[in-house]
Amino acid sequence: MKDQAEQLRKQLLQLQQQSKELEPRKTKVITVCSGKGGVGKSNFSLNFALALLRQQKKVLIFDVDLGLANIDVLLGIPPRRNMLHMIEQDLPITDIIEEGPEGLKFIAGGSGFNHLIHLEQQKIDRLFEELSHLHGQVDYIILDTGAGLSNESLRFILAADDVIVVTTPEPTAITDAYAVLKMVYTQQQKPNIRLVINRCSSHKEGRETGQKLKLVTRRFLNQEIGVLGYIPDDPNVMKAVKKQKPFLIQFPSTDASVALSNLARAYLDLPIENQGGIKSFLTKFLKSRSKIGG
Ligand SMILES: Nc1ncnc2c1ncn2[C@@H]1O[C@H](COP(=O)(O)OP(=O)(O)OP(=O)(O)O)[C@@H](O)[C@H]1O
Ligand SMILES: [Mg+2]
Repeated sequence: MKDQAEQLRKQLLQLQQQSKELEPRKTKVITVCSGKGGVGKSNFSLNFALALLRQQKKVLIFDVDLGLANIDVLLGIPPRRNMLHMIEQDLPITDIIEEGPEGLKFIAGGSGFNHLIHLEQQKIDRLFEELSHLHGQVDYIILDTGAGLSNESLRFILAADDVIVVTTPEPTAITDAYAVLKMVYTQQQKPNIRLVINRCSSHKEGRETGQKLKLVTRRFLNQEIGVLGYIPDDPNVMKAVKKQKPFLIQFPSTDASVALSNLARAYLDLPIENQGGIKSFLTKFLKSRSKIGG
């Protein structure tokens, strides 16, 4: 009797799993940004994407750092094509998606995206029409933005479902992260922002940095901001960068990899909110063009 019940339970679980797999995927757009440059956005984006993949999620990274290639260099994979090729040669978006390790998908920025801001509206519309084909194909699209708060980065931030602001415990990085928060929270659109404190020399230092930012944001901007996690300063990160391999692959059990895997699990455990997906991202992104003057 007990065995039979156990078997029924197993079959039920299997059925639930199968029906979940058949459901269309909702694609969530995550923008990763920072105030100060060089705080670890691209390394975070790439390894966070891999950590999500290892949790059975489908992920695409889109390198939207204007003018500077980041992700393909960190992966050591020279891209065959980038965004500009797509527009100039009228290619479908599937033709510019590159395959990275462990099933990771990426779209290379290169210098192509720099060009993009000077394109006519018609071409931009066509580009985004193509992006909408990714709806349901992946669970997450991660946008890795460039240093500083350009108009375009702000548009990516305001249109995303989730925003991750990366900072380090350095006072200059904290001040610049706060400047980003202030800039974003004074816009009409209030995205869902969380902090990641990178390069912490101790957990305590990470916690204190997060606390400082939380307090000033509460006091001066009247907003509550959450901390997604802390990543230690780990010499293996730089070693992996030099090898052009993500640290999660090159050093799977190093401190930074362990912290990042935990952080990705914590992210997936968050309650689902604000999930507008690609279509809402595109609508907001296009609308903000005239408002912010991109
Ligand atoms: N957790 C870490 N521990 C040690 N070093 C790190 C860590 N994270 C990043 N770094 C170092 O910081 C460098 C810059 O990282 P990364 O390129 O990811 O920053 P970024 O914010 O994307 O820079 P940019 O603003 O130029 O796009 C890396 O090459 C690495 O040497
Ligand atoms: Mg970068």
